[in-house]
Amino acid sequence: MYYATAFFFVTQLLSPVIGAQNAATTKFTCQPGQPCWPTIAQWQDFNQTIAGRLKITTMLASPCFPSSPNFNDTECADIRQNYTSSQFRGTVYGAMDLTQWEACGAANCYPSFLQPQRPTCSLGRLSALYVDAEEPADVTATLGFVRRHGIRLVVKNTGHDVLGRSAAANTLSLRVYNLKNMSFHSSFTAHNCSTSNRQNVGVIGAGVSAEDAVTFFSKQGMMVTVGGCPSVGIAGGFGQGGGHGPLAPSVGLMADQAIEFDVVTMDGVFRTINKCNDPDLFWAMRGGGGQSYAILINYKFQLHPQVAWANWRLEATLPPPTDNITQNTLLRDILTTLANQQITWSENRIAGYNGISPTSLSMMEMLPGGEKPLQTLQSVTASFRNLITNLPGVNITLDSYASYPDQNAFYIGNTEYWNHISAVGVSLITTSRLITKDNFEAPSKVDSLVTSILKAMQKVVDQLGAQLAPQVQFQFLTAVPSSTPDSDQETSVNPAWRDALWHFVSSAAWSPDTPNATAMQITAAARAALDIIKEPLAVQASYLNEADPEEPDWQHVFFGKHYAKLLQIKRKWDPDTLLNCKKCVGYLGPRDPMYSCDGYAPNPSVPYPFT
Ligand SMILES: *[C@@H]1O[C@H](CO)[C@@H](O)[C@H](O)[C@H]1NC(C)=O
Ligand SMILES: *[C@@H]1O[C@H](CO)[C@@H](O)[C@H](O)[C@H]1NC(C)=O
Ligand SMILES: *[C@@H]1O[C@H](CO)[C@@H](O)[C@H](O)[C@H]1NC(C)=O
Ligand SMILES: *[C@@H]1O[C@H](CO)[C@@H](O)[C@H](O)[C@H]1NC(C)=O
Ligand SMILES: *[C@@H]1O[C@H](CO)[C@@H](O)[C@H](O)[C@H]1NC(C)=O
Ligand SMILES: *[C@@H]1O[C@H](CO)[C@@H](O)[C@H](O)[C@H]1NC(C)=O
Ligand SMILES: *[C@@H]1O[C@H](CO)[C@@H](O)[C@H](O)[C@H]1NC(C)=O
Ligand SMILES: *[C@@H]1O[C@H](CO)[C@@H](O)[C@H](O)[C@H]1NC(C)=O
Repeated sequence: MYYATAFFFVTQLLSPVIGAQNAATTKFTCQPGQPCWPTIAQWQDFNQTIAGRLKITTMLASPCFPSSPNFNDTECADIRQNYTSSQFRGTVYGAMDLTQWEACGAANCYPSFLQPQRPTCSLGRLSALYVDAEEPADVTATLGFVRRHGIRLVVKNTGHDVLGRSAAANTLSLRVYNLKNMSFHSSFTAHNCSTSNRQNVGVIGAGVSAEDAVTFFSKQGMMVTVGGCPSVGIAGGFGQGGGHGPLAPSVGLMADQAIEFDVVTMDGVFRTINKCNDPDLFWAMRGGGGQSYAILINYKFQLHPQVAWANWRLEATLPPPTDNITQNTLLRDILTTLANQQITWSENRIAGYNGISPTSLSMMEMLPGGEKPLQTLQSVTASFRNLITNLPGVNITLDSYASYPDQNAFYIGNTEYWNHISAVGVSLITTSRLITKDNFEAPSKVDSLVTSILKAMQKVVDQLGAQLAPQVQFQFLTAVPSSTPDSDQETSVNPAWRDALWHFVSSAAWSPDTPNATAMQITAAARAALDIIKEPLAVQASYLNEADPEEPDWQHVFFGKHYAKLLQIKRKWDPDTLLNCKKCVGYLGPRDPMYSCDGYAPNPSVPYPFT
């Protein structure tokens, strides 16, 4: 009786929702081998309509496999050598930066770093075919094709993808990597929207990387709100999901800069959207996540006149803990001082990428602009620096302030550092929380925050032992939009970003050679650490692009109070959920065949010609 009543209640209330989900799940489930799957002739006809831009996937490491037609020792040696370069991996469709998103169950195409090479290179999660889009018409044709045949579409750009959203097995992939137009407009006229006219606007195609954008716009004397990794496509998930970086404390996130987008909507129509035209869609795509509402073609955004930059790099080793880390007063002093300084550092618009472990510090603080950035940075960081340099047992291996005439010089001057922090070709699970200002305001709050960090560090050692423990890393990113409150909520970015001082990350990393059981153990430790960190937090929020793909309460944690409104907009613009992006707004859950690789019955992609 109780069951029946509950059931009735649910159907009455949610029937439009359930109806939509059923329609969607039955609509895009076609798999290779089924009668609904396109015939070779149909694929070839489609190829004709998009000027031959339907390409057959070759996996990056296929030359390493004796069974592959591409087998070639010389090429394999080159691939192994460049395996951890994101730029290198980006040049082909057949690779993901984070290797676990290439694999489907036990099937993968990893080059063995320890001999012998495994026998077969599998497509894993990568699509057998991809559309290498060059113009909006390619996107329109692709949407029409997947709709006619009921197959899933996945969008792939360039750079890393932490949650594994840009590959799914037995789908058609839309690669936007080659949409690389860039232009500068000292005076920009928005489409049918005079209130959005602006000075100094950049227009970039969906596939433009951070590195390309910084190089191009610096020639116009302009800065771009890029992140730390040079290879990331800043108009993709980055710009549509938030996008933090060194300029965030000064001028905000990438999504804050958006003025207008060219998109292709799910009905195949090319539209230019902004605050006046389809404002709901424009709002949703300004922070509500990539590949959810429409396919982005061009991103038009506010640039910022060049200023001088300063930075401080600190590397140090700490004496190895002899006891329970919670009793380690040295580490407690370091973390307490850092947390106590944070409000001041953020008020001074300093951004930081800080890696802290029980045995080391690796920090970069950056200050773009102001009267005298170098002097300001030195004086604001002085008390923390004094502490570190005077602590007994701390071995400082790098302690260096520098100044740069502009953003481009700053990036070039730190190339080695960026390459280091953007090293890929490994597997990675990132768990995270945005840690809001209230946690820094009272000594008792700081104390409980620091205590939970120390406990989390001890937890990792308890679970993994001293040798494996370094596979879990703690990062304290302070590239937060602390001076751009967005009080009118013109963006759909998770509102918790506006109060956050730390984007705290506990990540698990392992090489593709690692046995599955060990990888699971490392991941479990990173999650256990985050569980301790999040316990005392009043606000539970994560950056949707750098979070745990297994986050249970993802709707609330990733989108905050905007979820309901974003879902309404998603349903309006993508009513049958053509885009079913993992833990994105309107996600239909893991039971869709496109997500088989995440589950118990993984189905790796069947290679073309699907026999
Ligand atoms: C599509 O056409 C191009 C150009 O003729 C060709 O290179 C490509 O292999 C074709 N795609 C497929 C799937 O046959
Ligand atoms: C292997 O690759 C190298 C470099 O691309 C090329 O010069 C060589 O001819 C290839 N060898 C074979 C047997 O195909
Ligand atoms: C791979 O790395 C080596 C050494 O760094 C470099 O000489 C080579 O050009 C790289 N190859 C490619 C294809 O990027
Ligand atoms: C790894 O092990 C976990 C837990 O036993 C299992 O769920 C998962 O499917 C395994 N993955 C692979 C790639 O074998
Ligand atoms: C890229 O720029 C060229 C030249 O201005 C233009 O013809 C083309 O339509 C642009 N492509 C896109 C996708 O906007
Ligand atoms: C121009 O904008 C107005 C709203 O400001 C809208 O009603 C109208 O449809 C738009 N016209 C075009 C051609 O986009
Ligand atoms: C470390 O100390 C904390 C707090 O005092 C305690 O809860 C934990 O059990 C200790 N762990 C070990 C391995 O001693
Ligand atoms: C400090 O660290 C460097 C680099 O790790 C090492 O070579 C040196 O021996 C260390 N010095 C002391 C005093 O521990």
